Amino acid sequence: MDDAAPHRTGPRNIITRASCPSTQDIVRDEALAGAPAGTICVTDHQTAGRGRRGRTWSDPPGKALMFSYLARVTRAPEELATLSLLVGIVVAESLPLGPRLRWPNDLVLNDGKVAGILVELVTPPDQPLFAIIGIGINANLTADELPPTDRLPATSLLVEGGEEIDRIALLDTLGTGLDAALELFDREGFAPFVARYAALDGLAGHAITLKLPQESLSGTAVGIDTQGQLVVRLTDGSEQAFSAGEVERVLD
Ligand code: BTN
Repeated sequence: MDDAAPHRTGPRNIITRASCPSTQDIVRDEALAGAPAGTICVTDHQTAGRGRRGRTWSDPPGKALMFSYLARVTRAPEELATLSLLVGIVVAESLPLGPRLRWPNDLVLNDGKVAGILVELVTPPDQPLFAIIGIGINANLTADELPPTDRLPATSLLVEGGEEIDRIALLDTLGTGLDAALELFDREGFAPFVARYAALDGLAGHAITLKLPQESLSGTAVGIDTQGQLVVRLTDGSEQAFSAGEVERVLD
């Protein structure tokens, strides 16, 4: 396989594993070997699943939907920070029960985290940069199977909706949604996604505390700007945009 086209052109290249350390590593190795854009690796269980900021992502076998998707992006490197936001939009629009986005890309239902997104950029010495988009969805976990967390409590689609969901059908919807979103992003950048994000924004209008590398600050979330930054109205009335940081608490 050696198809460096930026978007999926033929049938989906899909790799399935009953169990693996992390689907991120399988897609990275496939991409380095020339796998086409849109390649997906999906598994029923990860033994070394990883999340953002060095966290682990754990799952009881056969319950979550976990996959990685290969994006061969062509936008300028400084625009790629918005990738994880547009992936959040695709996931939020595809899931039942109407989850909201908590910047940058946690998906939240009733104050519980139902899905997480990890985007890893790879810059090989001998081929163009690519992105590995990892998505983990707490689909059919029961309340006592939810993983312990040090931040947002976890929840699942089953816990919130009372019904098991068809993980294969959801994977199909998400794959198609990612194909379309990445094609649009490559053509027009993040601009067409700003309004879609605003419609799903679970922070806008809420008092928050934002943890930055050196300090925490409080304010009211206003929304995101065209660069995908979080705009916060501070207690002195000024507005400031943040490209990094983590929302620690939503106070109202
Ligand atoms: C986060 O919330 O911090 C991101 C979690 C991302 C988990 C998914 S599961 C599929 C893929 N493989 C991994 O090891 N991580 C991502």
